[in-house]
Amino acid sequence: MSGGCKIPTLQLLPTIPELRQHRRSIDRPIALVPTMGALHEGHLRLVEEAKRLSDEVWVSIFVNPAQFGPKEDLAKYPRPIEDDLAACERLGVTAVFNPEPGEVYPPETIPVLLDVPSLSGEFEGAHRPGHFVGVCRVVLKLFNLCQPRYACFGQKDYQQLRVIEAMVGDLNLPIAVQRVATTREADGLAMSSRNRYLGEEERKQAAGLYKALQLAKQLIEDDGETDPPIIERVMEQALVAHKIEPDYCAVRHPETLARLDMVRQPVVALIAGRLGGVRLLDNLII
Ligand code: PAF
Repeated sequence: MSGGCKIPTLQLLPTIPELRQHRRSIDRPIALVPTMGALHEGHLRLVEEAKRLSDEVWVSIFVNPAQFGPKEDLAKYPRPIEDDLAACERLGVTAVFNPEPGEVYPPETIPVLLDVPSLSGEFEGAHRPGHFVGVCRVVLKLFNLCQPRYACFGQKDYQQLRVIEAMVGDLNLPIAVQRVATTREADGLAMSSRNRYLGEEERKQAAGLYKALQLAKQLIEDDGETDPPIIERVMEQALVAHKIEPDYCAVRHPETLARLDMVRQPVVALIAGRLGGVRLLDNLII
């Protein structure tokens, strides 16, 4: 190949010493995309956003045991590592950190647990006790190890996004958190690694989450509805009509996730439900 054109090569970093050594050789800003692998179109958008921010794009692929409850799908969570690495290479990712659990959580270390109580008590935090403590622990580790200038997170996990933004703000981490819009299937279903658990019929019903969010948007924007409980009830009915068992439907302050007496400013509609054995979540800023 003629000179002058540098093709980035993907650096695989399975251990912390390898990561640290490679990190020392990098002097341009890093844009990090933390993931649990099973990369789908939504993750690819995160990588594209990271590439817009820097030529040095790192992806972490780590199914974090600390954020799964004892009855959750840790063992069966998909781990198609070869496909994930091929996707990273195709997209021009420069480094992938893909450690084993024992590398991240060596048995001899004493756990330090972080919490953002005002944001994490309800919704996913209530349904998955300890989940956000596990998310904060691993994300702070990833930030400390990779020392990125930017970190890209999808808006699909809105509560997680707010928890991470709060952690970065309160702990003065020198990282810009980049919000990336939710990537959706043609019928509006938010892309998620867990969608692959849905059967054919369930997959069709799953569009009900997005329909419920659209109904909330119509109620607020077109009909001028301002009463959160009325909007929440309509969302819940839409889920039930799609055979989705509601976990929560809520209209909240988009930053604090606090309850609102009235809708008179942008709000976030948060929604989650069960379809067969699969738990699905989504949200919309309205
Ligand atoms: O959103 C995810 O995939 C995970 O919660 C994250 C942020 C990679 C932490 O394990």
